Amino acid sequence: MSEDRQKLIKSARQLIETDRLLGGQFIPAAAGGGSAGPAAVPAPPSMGLQEKAEALEAIDVAEVRPCVNCRLYQARTHTVFGEGDPDADLVFVGEGPGAEEDRTGRPFVGRAGELLTKMIEAMGLGRRDVYICNLVKCRPPQNRAPGPDEIEACWGYLIRQLQIIAPKVIVSLGNPATQNLLDTRVGITKMRGRWQKLPLIGEHLAGIDVMPTFHPAYLLRQYTGDNRGKVWDDLQKVMAVLGLKVRGKTN
Ligand code: URA
Ligand code: SF4
Repeated sequence: MSEDRQKLIKSARQLIETDRLLGGQFIPAAAGGGSAGPAAVPAPPSMGLQEKAEALEAIDVAEVRPCVNCRLYQARTHTVFGEGDPDADLVFVGEGPGAEEDRTGRPFVGRAGELLTKMIEAMGLGRRDVYICNLVKCRPPQNRAPGPDEIEACWGYLIRQLQIIAPKVIVSLGNPATQNLLDTRVGITKMRGRWQKLPLIGEHLAGIDVMPTFHPAYLLRQYTGDNRGKVWDDLQKVMAVLGLKVRGKTN
């Protein structure tokens, strides 16, 4: 069989598979060839699941909920600390709470959240298997982007969350999460789909693998087959590194 023909068959299979997984809503425009995963990082000091859960809870209850470190506290209804498995291998980092998140105190529960949930499920996981959080824990008024001073004021919480969870992989969603975590000004369009490593943003964090991808809210605004395919390609790279298999895949 010629190489082209093999590629074509592979693309077609992948397309059908993705269509099945995502109910036809997330069909990739092109099948991406996943590269080999990045090397593992040195393990941070180990904490048990219970210990991690308690450490996260303590930061949330004692520090974040009463936090007045930046002006975003003024208009919030609820702080949105983050949720999921305190011992997750995979953490998703978004930008900040929207209206629904502010109302409920939970991350990614609005429209963008529904899409993120679908993305997680397409990976063969559930929200409870991963950890989901944001750059800032309070909703910026009118859904404006959080300012650099607000991100700075909230930064320590995210760093400590990541140190406690000590994930294998972080998926940074969109520009603010990607640019701050990776300390870069390069835009998401250039960064997405390429493995990065966390720089020295905190003890035990340098070297953790980061996969930047489009924010689901952007995907909702630009819901093209091309963009959906790109995000699915990025997630498949993460799956490969975490040893997750596309369900039903035979090869
Ligand atoms: N967008 C985000 O970046 N985070 C949320 O929690 C919800 C929407
Ligand atoms: Fe505190 Fe962060 Fe909320 Fe600002 S956004 S008030 S730093 S929790």
